[in-house]
Amino acid sequence: MRDIKTCVIGLGSMGRNHARVLGDLQTAAFVGVADPAANVRAAYRPLQGVKVYAEYREMLERERPEAAIVAVPSELHCEIVADLAAAGVHVLVEKPMSKRLDEADRMIEVTRAAGVKFMVGHIERFNPAVQEIKQRVASKEIGEVFQLHARRLSPFPPRVTDVGVILDLATHDIDVMHFITGSTVVRTYAETARRAHATCEDTLNGLLRFSNGVVGVLDISWLSPQKLRQLSVLGPGGMYVCDYLTQDVHFYKNGRINDSWEPATHFSGAIEGDVLKTYIPKREPLRVELEAFLACILDDTPPPVSGEEGRTALRVALELGRSGVEHSVLEPPQAR
Ligand SMILES: NC(=O)c1ccc[n+]([C@@H]2O[C@H](COP(=O)([O-])OP(=O)(O)OC[C@H]3O[C@@H](n4cnc5c(N)ncnc54)[C@H](O)[C@@H]3O)[C@@H](O)[C@H]2O)c1
Repeated sequence: MRDIKTCVIGLGSMGRNHARVLGDLQTAAFVGVADPAANVRAAYRPLQGVKVYAEYREMLERERPEAAIVAVPSELHCEIVADLAAAGVHVLVEKPMSKRLDEADRMIEVTRAAGVKFMVGHIERFNPAVQEIKQRVASKEIGEVFQLHARRLSPFPPRVTDVGVILDLATHDIDVMHFITGSTVVRTYAETARRAHATCEDTLNGLLRFSNGVVGVLDISWLSPQKLRQLSVLGPGGMYVCDYLTQDVHFYKNGRINDSWEPATHFSGAIEGDVLKTYIPKREPLRVELEAFLACILDDTPPPVSGEEGRTALRVALELGRSGVEHSVLEPPQAR
């Protein structure tokens, strides 16, 4: 197995995490990082062999990396991805892949034309708890899913100034819902509000209708004193509840009606059954994501989260934002 010469562009809060994990991966030869902010570079302690650059173009010229991780603010993704594609470099770009669909299209187009891998960093797919739920839903253990319900609540993050809570947080759950249902959103409705953020929405209550009939409920907010990251998946056989942070999955089984006790026979539909907690070996999702990115280069297989899938999450996020502003139900014809 060979090492892939890899670099990181952008050394902010996410880029530093990429750099930390990358330095520990066997399939990566971590060669360089780039960030124009002098204070950011000064605070970074590079691993041995990692060169620090102010200008990513200079890094590309000198280090000739095979792969790059783009962790700069989302409005800068498109230009940098285009430069990387022109240099024949495989790309993992952070989510949201952009703030605009035309830029998402351009990134998909230029990376395809250059023949490089293009992956979008929808990290929650690589959360072992989400992988477990995906497998169990596919096995039909709970039958055909009715509803997915995501709650992603946090205290207000003053450092996020360029996007609202929909692009920053809801895109995680929109992507997970597509991943689990394997279906497309055909109808969108949102109530949004801005109470603390200077320019963008900081609360979303959203409803998604998927083409296979599943309903997605999104309760996403930066106005909560509690940090919560939870997904529940409901079907006729019961409900999974996943905690993205602890990576715990509970299975609430739909029980059987006890007809020896008369009042219980008045219940119809779901009744309380066993609750099972599944043991899942915990792994850092970012590490699993980066391993998957490098593996798709080594094995020459499609990236596990394609540019098109990143675009789908962005499209739905933008529709939620629009619905929240227009107070309208959106049914884009191209989604059907
Ligand atoms: N996957 C996740 O869970 C997750 C979490 C946080 C952020 N993100 C995403 O990661 C990206 C970065 O977010 P962040 O929170 O790290 O932002 P940040 O503001 O903390 O860091 C961005 C860094 O990019 C640098 N930068 C700006 N222009 C550059 C250029 N031309 N070349 C190189 N570096 C440049 C800035 O100096 C800064 O250090 C965003 O797309 C964000 O949505 C993803």
